Amino acid sequence: MTITIEKLGQAVGAQVIGVTRDQLLTDDSVAETVMTALEDNGVLVFRDLHLDPETQVAFCRTLGQVDISPGHHPVEGIYRVSLDTTKNSSASYLRATFDWHIDGCTPEDDAYPQMATVLTAKAVATSGGETEFASTYRAYDDLSPAERTYLGSLRVVHSLEASQRGVTTDPTPEQLAAWRRRPTKEHPLIWTHKSGRRSLVLGASTDYVVGLPAEESRALLDDLLRRCTAPDRVYRHTWSVGDTVIWDNRGVIHRAAPYPAGSPREMLRTTVLGEEPIE
Ligand SMILES: [Fe+2]
Repeated sequence: MTITIEKLGQAVGAQVIGVTRDQLLTDDSVAETVMTALEDNGVLVFRDLHLDPETQVAFCRTLGQVDISPGHHPVEGIYRVSLDTTKNSSASYLRATFDWHIDGCTPEDDAYPQMATVLTAKAVATSGGETEFASTYRAYDDLSPAERTYLGSLRVVHSLEASQRGVTTDPTPEQLAAWRRRPTKEHPLIWTHKSGRRSLVLGASTDYVVGLPAEESRALLDDLLRRCTAPDRVYRHTWSVGDTVIWDNRGVIHRAAPYPAGSPREMLRTTVLGEEPIE
């Protein structure tokens, strides 16, 4: 088997060519090849793979430990992403994925952010619903030496409320109370990974920079996000049924382009759990 990795964007993303669904489980070298390519490219696209849920979970287990919390789907390890509340009773929270984010910055417990996320398109939106990705490793690499020093001293409070306010600007008291039950988390702005690489911890969950006046804090976070997600830094994936995309949640932020609540779009997600804290 010859796997070819073809770059899709100049800053993030590559297509994996030459691997079939069956080879994901029968060829021992695939997991290592995928993990290396993921580290190098941040996002990997497998077109026309047509993964079934069981194979998706089994393949993810070759990459790491899989999140098996209930996911509105009969197969353990699969979480159904849909705005249709008959398919996912927590669908209202998913609208926050229309803003840039890292998965798992405000967990209910002390879980680390997930290592990787795998999405397979079961049904696609008739309009919208593309997923966009930007590299937070690249965002760090693009900083000036002075910025690296200054930002390296800053810590940021992340909250579910900040994530949700982006899409629900006028919450009911009940919504607000539910958001505030989730504990906030304080993370450094720059994440130094076990690998030695550094990335910026950005996205909708960033509430404020500790110790800065509110306006300065917001302006700084917005400016960093804008630079990280400049159009020439983004890979935008337009889904076809049967596509599978994997991204490195440690060094990539992502968002979904808005799509209507009645959209048929349905993604099957598997999460490979993280092994390192943001530090
Ligand atoms: Fe997400």
